[in-house]
Amino acid sequence: MKPQIAHMEQRPNAPPVPHVLVFPLPAQGHVNSMLKLAELLALAGLQVTFLNTDHNHDRLVRYTNVQARFARFPGFQFKTITDGLPAEHPRAGDHFMEMFGTLKSVTKPLFRNMLFSGQSNSVSSGRPVTCIIVDGILSFPIDVGDELGIPVIHFRTISACCFWAYFCIPDIIEAGELPIRGNGDMDRLITSVPDMETFLRCRDLPSYCRVSNLADPNLQLAADETRQSPRARALLLNTFEELEGPVLSHICTRCPKIYTIGPLHLLLKLKLGCKTTTLQSESSNSLFKVDRSCMTWLDAQPLKSVVYVSFGSIAKMTKNERMEFWYGLVNSKQRFLWVIRPGMVDDGKDGDSQTPAELVEGTKERGYLVGWAPQEEVLAHPAIGGFLTHSGWNSTLESIVAGVPMLCWPYFADQQVNSRFVSEVWKLGMDMKDTCDRVIVEKMVNDLMVEKREELLKSTVEMARLARESVSESGSSYCNFERLIEDIRLMR
Ligand code: UDX
Repeated sequence: MKPQIAHMEQRPNAPPVPHVLVFPLPAQGHVNSMLKLAELLALAGLQVTFLNTDHNHDRLVRYTNVQARFARFPGFQFKTITDGLPAEHPRAGDHFMEMFGTLKSVTKPLFRNMLFSGQSNSVSSGRPVTCIIVDGILSFPIDVGDELGIPVIHFRTISACCFWAYFCIPDIIEAGELPIRGNGDMDRLITSVPDMETFLRCRDLPSYCRVSNLADPNLQLAADETRQSPRARALLLNTFEELEGPVLSHICTRCPKIYTIGPLHLLLKLKLGCKTTTLQSESSNSLFKVDRSCMTWLDAQPLKSVVYVSFGSIAKMTKNERMEFWYGLVNSKQRFLWVIRPGMVDDGKDGDSQTPAELVEGTKERGYLVGWAPQEEVLAHPAIGGFLTHSGWNSTLESIVAGVPMLCWPYFADQQVNSRFVSEVWKLGMDMKDTCDRVIVEKMVNDLMVEKREELLKSTVEMARLARESVSESGSSYCNFERLIEDIRLMR
């Protein structure tokens, strides 16, 4: 079935076609979901400008067919802006948060000029911008929008449960529940996040809360930027009501206009009319070179026999942690497909010569390593039986849609909250946070693939069904997306 692209030509006296500027935080997970949103907006017949950073746009163009893909939308354009960091900056691990400083000091004035520069908010195409949809971790576009009279919508790429935890950080501090008092305090329950009083421990709070100094800039940034969302015209969330209903009703009290429109990748697939996985390889938004050889390897593996292991685009690990995972995986005797991103392992220059023979042998027999995989396609492959994940929100949603149970090893930010919800609330997996020990990895991988498999499958199969329902015609996310388009059309 061919996708229906709504018509954009102007009829005489018809209201002008809205022009939406979409601006993600420059990171893989954010660019991925906001490009999907941009494609959905374009499919609905809106004019879209996607503002990427120079650094990410170069990579996106190098590793995907994104330009050809979007060329079919006559009202679509890419624009670029600097993230203010030097080219060689790693933009990952401990250095990731540095970009928030340069986005404010370098990018903000350029962003303002871009919208202001003599062409009446046109982003240099002569088309006035009707509305800005910006990553909700950035509040400066709201200042610019207010100044120029352009409505700004916040799009948060994280879960509603983590958004709510971020939002409540000032209340947690006010209640005296932060700072965390050392390792021995990590299992204390946090009682000042409504709806999470019975299961949210210190260790499940967003990683920024793990500081002794409450004036820590990253903690302040996460809390302050999130508290700005009520200033936006609306809040978009890549989630669905059936998954996060109770938390959404709390968020509504602070941000009354919410549109939950996820899982976005599934909504897009349905709107594009893809019934199979065949179009997925043509719709990659990867900032890394995809190694498709793992698909051939997966084709040769038995049904539901492989653990897919990936820690996303920002997480880093030490050589020692890699060794613990590697031993755990090999000793579990399960088959595994493991994504080890270039640069993911600190000082990871050690070659196979230093790798113990039993690991080399075990990997040859049952494992496969790649630098970057076509993840959505991998998760949908019949050979995949479990996902050892860092609990990034895109990965979590992709796993939910594919009905694959998760073993969570969260790295930072929202991931600590997501993994708690995956294990305790939604019962879609297990949480291994804060441990990295080969014996535990081996045990939990076997629980995931064998011992607890049936139990986990019950909830994962049901949640996958609810996710599909939410994006099908008359489902909650489907209707919310239609409402969003109508509301943007009403903006002048
Ligand atoms: C992190 C977060 O934790 C996330 O919740 C937040 O919104 C953005 O920052 P990241 O590490 O990129 O994100 O994880 P995730 O949100 O899971 O996104 C990773 C994306 O890369 C997924 O869409 C995944 O499909 C893709 N990916 C990952 C690949 O295509 N191939 C891979 O090998 C690994």
